[in-house]
Amino acid sequence: MDPQEFLERIKSLESEALAGFAAASGADALEAARVRFLGSKGLLGEVSKLMAKLDKAARPEAGKALNGCRERVSSAFGAAKARLSTEPEAGDALDVTLPGRRLPAGHTHLITRTSREICSIFEKMGLAVTEGPEVETDYYNFEALNFPKDHPSRDMQQSLFLEEGLLLRTHTSGVQIRTMEKTRPPVWIVVPGKTYRRDDDLTHSPMFNQVEGLVVDRGITMADLKGVLAEFARKFFSESTKIRLRPSFFPFTEPSAEVDIACVSCGGKGCRICKGSGWLEVLGCGMVDPALYDYVGYDANEVSGFAFGIGVDRMAMLKYRLDSIGRFYSGDVRCMRQFPG
Ligand code: DAH
Repeated sequence: MDPQEFLERIKSLESEALAGFAAASGADALEAARVRFLGSKGLLGEVSKLMAKLDKAARPEAGKALNGCRERVSSAFGAAKARLSTEPEAGDALDVTLPGRRLPAGHTHLITRTSREICSIFEKMGLAVTEGPEVETDYYNFEALNFPKDHPSRDMQQSLFLEEGLLLRTHTSGVQIRTMEKTRPPVWIVVPGKTYRRDDDLTHSPMFNQVEGLVVDRGITMADLKGVLAEFARKFFSESTKIRLRPSFFPFTEPSAEVDIACVSCGGKGCRICKGSGWLEVLGCGMVDPALYDYVGYDANEVSGFAFGIGVDRMAMLKYRLDSIGRFYSGDVRCMRQFPG
């Protein structure tokens, strides 16, 4: 056989095969082309048998051409296979009439939602949202709030210290001082934020959330404090919610009080939730101790004020009836998903 003729056979076989693979429009067509060109009884096999009919001298060159041809045809087959695996087949072309797939949408966490609910009730009464740092100095967290040097909450057992004089704030009350330092009265603020203590049980988490309130203005009395908190309880829980104030102590308020709400579960008759008392303790408050005014340069003869601190986690547990604070922080979305915000 004429070597030239052999080379031409290979060339035309190659262009036919390449066109065949490129045109294959589905898995079946591709397989048929594979059998036709690369199969054990296929055209490439047939042509290679013709080698035997060539002169010995012409064989090396013919063999080389044949191998090159086989490589290119094989890779054309591979490329066609890859193309078909990503392309939809004619039968399952895009159906634009199908409804779209809904992407899962998240929502705010119940604690975030509760904190915002609390703040927005106070915002409607004229208090402005303010924030402060979570890493706080001993001065703002304790000293300027009139905590004596040997006060138990300055103890390492409860507070998480980072270094001498620097800790994760144990409450949001330090923002009272930070704000009064920066502004002249009147001050009407609410301060949402994370707080930290070494506590961990059904109702305590080492990280929890508070909303602090501070109103300092001319002629503010305890009646204003009680009125604001009673209104808050009605708006947050329900219009019929009653509150009561019990004497208490905080270093930065004088007098100080704990506020109870009539039990959200039994309405005051006494049940398991309120341990039979009919009341639930929800927050601490009081009239700003004039000692604080000395730290920030306010004149105690001109202004007076009240402050309060609300535990957001506790409020959320009471309002949404959760049995453990761990529900908020365990990362198990099955619980939080019940409260889309
Ligand atoms: N800082 C207090 C605490 O974390 C709560 C508190 C009580 C805040 C009375 C106040 C207040 O502003 O007046 O336990």
